[in-house]
Amino acid sequence: MLYSIETKSLTKSFGDLKAVDGISFNVENGEIFGFLGPNGAGKSTTMMILTTLLKPSSGKALVSGFDVMTHPKKVREEIGFVQQESTVDEYLSGRENLYLQARLHHIPKELINERIDEVLDLIELSDKQHKAVVTYSGGMRKRLDIAGGLLHRPRVLFLDEPTVGLDIQTRRKIWEYIKKIHKEFEMTLFVSTHYMEEADQLCDRIGIIDGGKIQVIDTPQNMKNALGNEVISLTIENQNNEKEFLSTLEKIELVKKINHDQGKITLFASKGTEVIPKIFQISSDLKIKINSISLTQPTLDDVFISYTGHEIRDDDGGYNRKREHAKMKRIRA
Ligand SMILES: Nc1ncnc2c1ncn2[C@@H]1O[C@H](COP(=O)(O)OP(=O)(O)OP(=O)(O)O)[C@@H](O)[C@H]1O
Ligand SMILES: [Mg+2]
Repeated sequence: MLYSIETKSLTKSFGDLKAVDGISFNVENGEIFGFLGPNGAGKSTTMMILTTLLKPSSGKALVSGFDVMTHPKKVREEIGFVQQESTVDEYLSGRENLYLQARLHHIPKELINERIDEVLDLIELSDKQHKAVVTYSGGMRKRLDIAGGLLHRPRVLFLDEPTVGLDIQTRRKIWEYIKKIHKEFEMTLFVSTHYMEEADQLCDRIGIIDGGKIQVIDTPQNMKNALGNEVISLTIENQNNEKEFLSTLEKIELVKKINHDQGKITLFASKGTEVIPKIFQISSDLKIKINSISLTQPTLDDVFISYTGHEIRDDDGGYNRKREHAKMKRIRA
């Protein structure tokens, strides 16, 4: 079997809303596959279907060769799922939480302590294992969540936004742990994220999902290369001849694609240094004043905009509010 995950025309509707809209993709064995998309794109819904927590409205999904609809129990034996919201009990210690998880996964009693020691060591939480989780930092909690997903040595690990709401240093640290886990356990990883840098650093291949649809799947490098190797960003002052300006720019041979948003123009091109003089020539002919111009390498941000027509919003405030809300609910319960 070549693929850990296979989906065909997978769809999930909530009333009139198609949260997941006919997506088809495969994830190879041993791959780190990233699901990159903004809030509400359908990432968690897809993951819930693949982990058997939600039934699809139509379409097909196989995980480790088992159909999520007809063999959910088999699928659950193969997978670990670290959900977007932490599921640990804050008033228990790290070790006690892992013990509960181990029991939930039906790990034989005589193996439990050994497995807990192993994952604690891997995620470097051994020294804090007897402290209550309420005293842990955000990064430590996430590491504990991840450890819980590894106890039964799943073949496929799902991580739903593993670093959301964490500061950049902590995020990078989590990426290191994820890479280490991937290497040691030789597992397939399916990671959802709305951080470009995370997808770029971590993933072998990325699927960009927006509005429930997959827009493109490829390696981060290929995606960037497809745009040409340079990005020219310019802002212009008078927007009278803008239409004509844009259509003339489009005709420059080396320009692969143009995006345009209220006086801000982005050109994806190869050999940017040859394109820039042409831009000045055209602007002078059309009497358009260029306020600024810059030449950079394409980033995944550029790729995202080129496929979806909008920027991925880094709406951390919303996440934190959601997290706080979930926390309060747990505390009240
Ligand atoms: N149980 C539900 N009932 C109704 N609508 C839902 C339900 N779950 C999700 N949705 C909607 O489906 C869409 C996709 O949601 P989903 O949680 O999969 O997105 P996401 O990509 O994980 O977003 P986020 O980055 O915010 O976690 C959203 O519009 C959401 O409001
Ligand atoms: Mg989500």
